[in-house]
Amino acid sequence: MGHLADYDGGVLVVSHDLPLLDESITSVLALDNAEIEVYRGNYTEYLGERNRRRAQREKERRLQDEKIAQLQRNVERFRGKTEKMARKAKTIETRMNRIKDSLVEVKPVDGKAVAVRFPQPVPSGRTPMTATGLAKAFGENVVFVDIDVDSNRGEKLLIVGLNGAGKTTLLRILAGVETPDLGEVELGYRATIGYYAQEHEQISSGVGVLEHLRSVSDQPDQVLRGVLGHFRLADKIDQDAATLSGGEKTKLALAMVVLGGPNILLLDEPTNNLDPQAKDALFTALQQYEGTLILVSHDTEFVAKLEPDRAIIMPDGDHVYYDNRLLDLVAMV
Ligand SMILES: Nc1ncnc2c1ncn2[C@@H]1O[C@H](COP(=O)(O)OP(=O)(O)OP(=O)(O)O)[C@@H](O)[C@H]1O
Ligand SMILES: [Mg+2]
Repeated sequence: MGHLADYDGGVLVVSHDLPLLDESITSVLALDNAEIEVYRGNYTEYLGERNRRRAQREKERRLQDEKIAQLQRNVERFRGKTEKMARKAKTIETRMNRIKDSLVEVKPVDGKAVAVRFPQPVPSGRTPMTATGLAKAFGENVVFVDIDVDSNRGEKLLIVGLNGAGKTTLLRILAGVETPDLGEVELGYRATIGYYAQEHEQISSGVGVLEHLRSVSDQPDQVLRGVLGHFRLADKIDQDAATLSGGEKTKLALAMVVLGGPNILLLDEPTNNLDPQAKDALFTALQQYEGTLILVSHDTEFVAKLEPDRAIIMPDGDHVYYDNRLLDLVAMV
């Protein structure tokens, strides 16, 4: 960050992490509805300025609407009386039409994502997952030894640690896609796992977006469409999922994992690639989620909002109650 701020040359950054970049950026290009607007200043200043510009446009538009209404009344008053008055009405009408042609456009505020009630999974037993004595090494690189993991039904567990501490490796082992060198993972009564990795392996080419959801859930289309609306993918229903943008693929993959109905969700950096609205959508989905969540994230804002119950600190595997002081560790990469 400091490096970016001190850099002499120009830098064009494409990022959803603008709050984080606040200290180093000096202008914002906002791309909205195929139009680019330039704002001087950092992200916070951009948000303020955007609201000011919007308020200004709304005011201009209100004045125009009032003017048009007033002219319209005059046109009606003069029209169909004497010839002179009719001519006057014509002039007023021309003036009115000129204003109508140059109306200030006020775009509707981006509506809140549709409120959606996610189908809840069948509950697991009280202890959905336990792992004991896990160890993993890649050649000479011993990532961790003797890690125990315990979980309670419905709790939100956060895995924290520096880059390379073994968070992804641990999650993969818990998900059963990687085998530990030592130790074992046990699933509790009726426990089922949904694992989200960043690779989006579950997205197939040539298959539409809604079809993807149908493949993981037997909920009626109406529910599936609601979920797509929630993640703002409503206008992509029939699009070939392979052609979605990176962020859209992330949203689809998350929707699929959540809809699959697992009562243990393992999510590895789910907010990477997501814009602020999509993060909100994910946040509400996770907040409503009644199953057990095990999350890896470096996203301090998201973690602070989610307020996990406990954290597992890697590579030692200590379990601690979650506290906002841990955010320093979340941010550290
Ligand atoms: N398939 C693999 N082969 C060899 N080394 C690996 C493999 N997978 C992971 N590692 C190594 O294991 C260590 C832990 O990696 P892991 O991906 O679990 O870290 P992480 O905590 O998720 O880091 P990050 O915060 O960067 O995502 C790293 O040193 C990594 O290089
Ligand atoms: Mg990782």
